[in-house]
Amino acid sequence: MVYLENVDLTEKTILEIGTGNGATTLQIIGDMLNYPNSRLITTDIVARDISHLFSSYSELQDRVTFIQTSGEKLEGLIPNSIDIIVEGYTLCAINSQTGKVPICFSRWAEVLKPGGLLFIEEEFPLYSQDSQKYFLWRMYWRFIKSLLLYAGKNPYQEIDPQTLDSLLKNYHFVIDNQDIGDTLTAQSEIISALFSHFSEWKNFLPNGLVRLAFWLLKNSLLQQIKVLGTMITPYYSIRAHLKEK
Ligand SMILES: C[S@@+](CC[C@H](N)C(=O)[O-])C[C@H]1O[C@@H](n2cnc3c(N)ncnc32)[C@H](O)[C@@H]1O
Repeated sequence: MVYLENVDLTEKTILEIGTGNGATTLQIIGDMLNYPNSRLITTDIVARDISHLFSSYSELQDRVTFIQTSGEKLEGLIPNSIDIIVEGYTLCAINSQTGKVPICFSRWAEVLKPGGLLFIEEEFPLYSQDSQKYFLWRMYWRFIKSLLLYAGKNPYQEIDPQTLDSLLKNYHFVIDNQDIGDTLTAQSEIISALFSHFSEWKNFLPNGLVRLAFWLLKNSLLQQIKVLGTMITPYYSIRAHLKEK
């Protein structure tokens, strides 16, 4: 995640879409340290407590606000009020409800000032990356997505970067830069995520037979994780700016 490290944040108001557990928020807060008049509004559809993010950055607490709102509504934000929008791994969550992403881009173009910047970082869709090095990543997400579908939930749906480019152009964004990379997740972290997802969703499965099937699949995946170790995840990032309105 590089995001804002080379961007002049003097007097800038940054909007984050999808606070989650705050990994991206923390990075933005770190980038704001050298810019005393910068401000961050971080948003999520779910209520999030961000107080733990200030343990090393207490001087920034007054310049960071959390608003509970969806990325498509952005309640409380007025047009032309934001200099920079940052989203990390949230468009795939928004896209779990088909049709929401264009609504977001329209609203983001409204709240951004002309010339304002947009930073996106997302995982690639599973179907688009067939290299052997991503085998564990594909198996892991096939399991989690199937589990969620059987539990009656909407799994995240990643968008390929070409589709995102075309969509962004329709909403008057100009692509400045694109990059790709891999992130590595340690074996212990994948195993704990696997157990946590399984225990969170198993009670939503329709019956004992399906629960047994997923329990067996989980154990088979666990064996693969133990053999293969680290999970390699492919991601892409996009930097764009909004044309004059
Ligand atoms: C993978 S997490 C974000 C990760 C976070 N940005 C980070 O870097 O750690 C996805 C987040 O999107 C949020 N979300 C889901 N649908 C949303 C929507 N329509 N609008 C805004 N946030 C949404 C979820 O509540 C979740 O916190």
